[in-house]
Amino acid sequence: MRAYRAKVVEPIHLPDRDEREANLESAGYNVFNLDSEDVFIDLLTDSGTGTMSDEQWAAMMRGDEAYAGSDSFKRLQDSVSDVMGFEKIVPAHQGRGAENVLYGVLISEGDYVPNNTHFDTTRAHIVNNGGTPVDCPIDVADDDPFKGNLDPDKVRDLAGDVGAENIPVLVVTVTNNSMAGQPVSVENIREARDVADEIDATFVIDACRFAENAYFVQQREDEFSDASVADIAREELSFADAIVMSGKKDALSNIGGFVGVRDDSLFEATKQRGILYEGFTTYGGLAGRDLEAMAVGLREAVTESYIESRVEQVAELGNLLQEADVPIFAPTGGHAVYVDAEEFLPEIPREQFPGQVLTCELYREGGVRGVELGEFAFPGEDRPQLVRLCLPRRSYFRDHLEHIAESFEKVAERRDELRGLTVVSEPEMEELRHFSAELEPV
Ligand code: F0G
Repeated sequence: MRAYRAKVVEPIHLPDRDEREANLESAGYNVFNLDSEDVFIDLLTDSGTGTMSDEQWAAMMRGDEAYAGSDSFKRLQDSVSDVMGFEKIVPAHQGRGAENVLYGVLISEGDYVPNNTHFDTTRAHIVNNGGTPVDCPIDVADDDPFKGNLDPDKVRDLAGDVGAENIPVLVVTVTNNSMAGQPVSVENIREARDVADEIDATFVIDACRFAENAYFVQQREDEFSDASVADIAREELSFADAIVMSGKKDALSNIGGFVGVRDDSLFEATKQRGILYEGFTTYGGLAGRDLEAMAVGLREAVTESYIESRVEQVAELGNLLQEADVPIFAPTGGHAVYVDAEEFLPEIPREQFPGQVLTCELYREGGVRGVELGEFAFPGEDRPQLVRLCLPRRSYFRDHLEHIAESFEKVAERRDELRGLTVVSEPEMEELRHFSAELEPV
């Protein structure tokens, strides 16, 4: 049961079928090119797209827009300290800004950086600083409650291969976005801390979805079944030397991010780099009102009634899709449902982008926008062909979820007539293809 109600609403509009078909064609069969006013239910991302609370909006009015020494910054500091246990923070305009600040300080040419699984922007910032990102996920078993975990032995093997002195940083991402939003156990975070000590690496947690992760720990890790989500959140982050945070996720805000550190000299270095790339230390590329929104959002994110309804809504969408015979990654993670497009559309070969076909058909049938994470987004990589359906926080209701499931059913009815897609124009950087390339039916 959702322990909140709508107080401000935004009308949404389902264009008729002809319009949707015309929109798809003019978007070059790439949903990134659609206008949001033409999207009925937008599941492209959970990043910055959620609904803020009345308390957040009220706090924004208090925003202190001073260049230096802003009160809003102090309120954010207090909130991060209370909720996440980090006293020293460097604000940034969003998560990737925070990554640039922290990884630019910690990583140099020739380094290796293990992570349970790198998110795209993390990978890019490590590469940008001359490092090599290495994914070290566990080999997932079906009944594993924490499919997002890091495999500490893979980190040890990497240290054996490349030398521990070339691994300055170990990252754990909670929840593991690139592994279907699956959680990481506190036990695993403790193991990661031990490995980081063994190889003398700085242990960083990418804390974007730390509250969602803490909820899974409460539900699934025996040691924590009686603990509050707020206590678990502090506990899971207590093992890290530093955190990188996108406020657009579990700070329930539309923009913002920060780095948190414990060590004085690392704080000094990140502050300096923060000033260079983000802005002065007490605003970090944000307005004071954005700092306020994060300060309040972080506290709300770890309240039991919010976090339970958040994660359980994702599970509810997963259940509705399973009832409609849609093959999904199960159990669902914290922020999104991932659909296996190859299983759903077995006639479409991988090189004709089954995930992108399914993404376009969902829009054609229901005005629903998801995102392909397969051959179109990651050319030439041997990975499952997935479509990610992210739920923005506190934004949609049960009948929206039912509409999504019905849209899948309509796609399934036309399964045999569907054709693959081919790319007709793409940007120079292949890694950025899915943001702007155009396609057409084969
Ligand atoms: N780390 C993780 C695990 C993320 O999921 C993201 C963003 C970032 C860092 C970067 O944060 O967007 O504020 O710069 N993920 C979004 C997504 C974009 O759709 O999954 P950002």
